[in-house]
Amino acid sequence: MKKEDEFFKDPKLKKAQEIILNRIKRSLVPEDYNHAINTLKWLVKLCSFADDRMKIAALAHDIERAYKDKKIKRENYSDFNEFKRAHAENSAKIVRSILTDLNFSKDFIDDVCELIKLHEFGGNKRADCIKDADSISFFDTNLVLYYQREGFEETKRRAIWGYKRLSDRAKMMVKTFTYQDKKLQELINSLRYIIH
Ligand SMILES: [Fe+2]
Repeated sequence: MKKEDEFFKDPKLKKAQEIILNRIKRSLVPEDYNHAINTLKWLVKLCSFADDRMKIAALAHDIERAYKDKKIKRENYSDFNEFKRAHAENSAKIVRSILTDLNFSKDFIDDVCELIKLHEFGGNKRADCIKDADSISFFDTNLVLYYQREGFEETKRRAIWGYKRLSDRAKMMVKTFTYQDKKLQELINSLRYIIH
């Protein structure tokens, strides 16, 4: 990891980061590793009050996708929001086990897990910030690969869903993103007409 990517000073937190990223590296979703780091970078950029618990939550929020046999499968949910809720709960469960093994305090673990559970829909100032960082990062690091894998119609649906969950400030940022692919660029340009 490059010097500018060092987010933690405490050795135990560094160890947690190492274990989380080593697992995410094994995800079959190719954008997952960059997305984890990128979400953390956006969190630090967006939230001056980002604390270590928020940072660990941002890094590990999608970790369940790296467990081939335990991951929540989209096809088992007719409702996308229910799928996302189950995904968040499953990531929190896995992170609880990782942090327990590393002897973090119950208070620390409960807080990180609650933030992960809330990362898709927010619910308080800290969770809202992780939600924003995650959603901006989708447009920053995931969109192009998602489009290549899922096709235009699914990417459009996912982009609209992701855009709607952004704060006004984050929406302004996403509107400035540029893409080489003309269709993707048109999609991003069209998001400005979504009212809420
Ligand atoms: Fe995410």
